[in-house]
Formats: sequence, structure tokens, C-alpha cells
Amino acid sequence: MTDLSLPPTYSEYTSVDPAPSAPVDTEERLEARLMDTSMPMFERMKAIFTLRNLGTDRAVDAIGRALIEDRSALMRHEAAYVLGQVQSPHAIPVLERALFGDTHVMVRHEAAEALGNIMDDRVLPLLERGLVDPDEEVVESCEVAIDNQRYLRSKRFEAFAAE
Ligand SMILES: [Fe+2]
Repeated sequence: MTDLSLPPTYSEYTSVDPAPSAPVDTEERLEARLMDTSMPMFERMKAIFTLRNLGTDRAVDAIGRALIEDRSALMRHEAAYVLGQVQSPHAIPVLERALFGDTHVMVRHEAAEALGNIMDDRVLPLLERGLVDPDEEVVESCEVAIDNQRYLRSKRFEAFAAE
């Protein structure tokens, strides 16, 4: 039964998104909508925010597909951004591909920031490798992300020590 106390676009994220999320649907249908370049960008972004809200590995795979395959750098950047919000280690391989393979500085910047949000031992070496990116914005993003990793680790240590 549907929980009517929640609006269909309920999100645990407090960000003000550039588009509302689409009604909850299957990951497959949301992925199809996200990848449908005949749809307005607004509709495609609604799908990406719903996938983010679902946060399952299948949803992360769908967002990761947009991050790698989409022709629009704006959409690839948005995909990296929401993967940073989801904070799933499942997204690490695809964010690595974007950080070291995307041609657009905005996408590499966002991939670095997203990796910085994910607590996983694989992240720090990737960010250190990113410090030699030809674009200063990406280098700076890696520096911020490395500091964020240290901050998150100290918070986790504090929580652990307080137990
Ligand atoms: Fe950003």
C-alpha cells in the first residue's frame, strides 16, 4: 500500500535541486527516461533525482551510465554530483572513470568531490592521483576532497571512540 503521508517526490536530501524528482518508478524505467535524449533536460533530471532518492545499487548503476555515456557535460556533471550525495561505494569505479577519463573539467571536478564524500579505503589513492590533473579546478577539488576524507575519518573515529 502506498504511504500517503509522504509526497511522491519525498527526498531525504536537503539540497535545492534544479528539477523536482519524478514519481517513484522502477530503476529500469527511470534509467530509460534518464537516457532518452528526446526528452527535455528537465524531465531527464527529474529521473536522476528519483534514482538518487532510491539509492540502490541498481539506481547507482543507472546514474553511472549517464555519467559515462551522456553527450551532455551538464548531465554528466549532475550525475557525478548526485553520486556524491548517495555516498555509495558502489559508485567508486564509475567515478574513477570520470575523474580520469572525462574530457570536461566540470565533470572531473564533480567526480573528485563525489569521491571525497564516500568513506572507502579505495578513495584516497584515487584523489592523490587526481592531483596531477592538467586543470587547476580539478587539482583544487582533489585537495578539498582529500581534506574531506580526513574530516570524515576523524568524525568516524570520534563516533567510534565515544561508544
Ligand atoms: Fe561542484
